Amino acid sequence: MSWVEARNLPRHVGIIMDGNGRWATLRGEDRQAGHKAGSAAVRRIVRVSRRLGISALTLYAFSEQNWARPQGEVEALMGLLEEFLKSERDEILDNGIRLVAIGDTGRLPEFVRESLDPLARASSENEKMTLALALSYGAREEIAHVARALATAAIAGQIDPTEITAKLIASRIPSLSVGEPDLILRTGGEQRLSNFLLYGAANAELVFSDRLWPDFDEADLFDAIHTYQTRTAAYSPHDESRRG
Ligand code: IPE
Ligand code: IPE
Ligand code: MG
Repeated sequence: MSWVEARNLPRHVGIIMDGNGRWATLRGEDRQAGHKAGSAAVRRIVRVSRRLGISALTLYAFSEQNWARPQGEVEALMGLLEEFLKSERDEILDNGIRLVAIGDTGRLPEFVRESLDPLARASSENEKMTLALALSYGAREEIAHVARALATAAIAGQIDPTEITAKLIASRIPSLSVGEPDLILRTGGEQRLSNFLLYGAANAELVFSDRLWPDFDEADLFDAIHTYQTRTAAYSPHDESRRG
């Protein structure tokens, strides 16, 4: 397991949790079993991140594009999400974690919203760590949403189009309300962003792990943070001037 320095921790880490299906297939089980094991990995990694002192963790749990998966798989994922929100409620509140959801959450089934919305409200004042769940999330869709809002405001005469800068757009993007991601990590061996945090990815360090998400543990997270720290050792990653 790698050493992690307490200083120079990434403040905001985004994780593309990939590889559940392959994990299950390798064991001769159905994909659902992989998602269930993936859910246990989420619990582990949230706990470790909170203990480490990471200030924001954004987890890609369900993409806008994942709605196109077979209905049975979508239902299983929604069921696991509800179960996660119920079983983690006390731990989230007791540990000062603020839970937020990013994405088109209006598309989520009612039974998920009934667990999600009250927990988001109850934890909204917590300050130890923000856990952002990307649900029905797509970065292009998120940018389009901001573009529509800005166009509407411009037509209503509330903003001047010449004032629309990259910085203004960033300030309106929900996934960046906790700051830009310093580190984006993808498990499962694929090396692509799959529509995750595209606007915020501009300056992020990208780290790819071959570990399948259900197997991802504390040591793997430390390895990824160690890689981040090795790469950013030469400069101060939180230096705003670098952000351009
Ligand atoms: C990631 O694992 C979980 C979600 C996308 C919900 P996958 O289900 O994509 O697993 P693989 O990539 O098929 O192994
Ligand atoms: C990305 O994984 C989405 C999540 C982890 C929720 P996918 O498995 O859905 O992405 P692709 O299909 O490999 O791009
Ligand atoms: Mg996948």
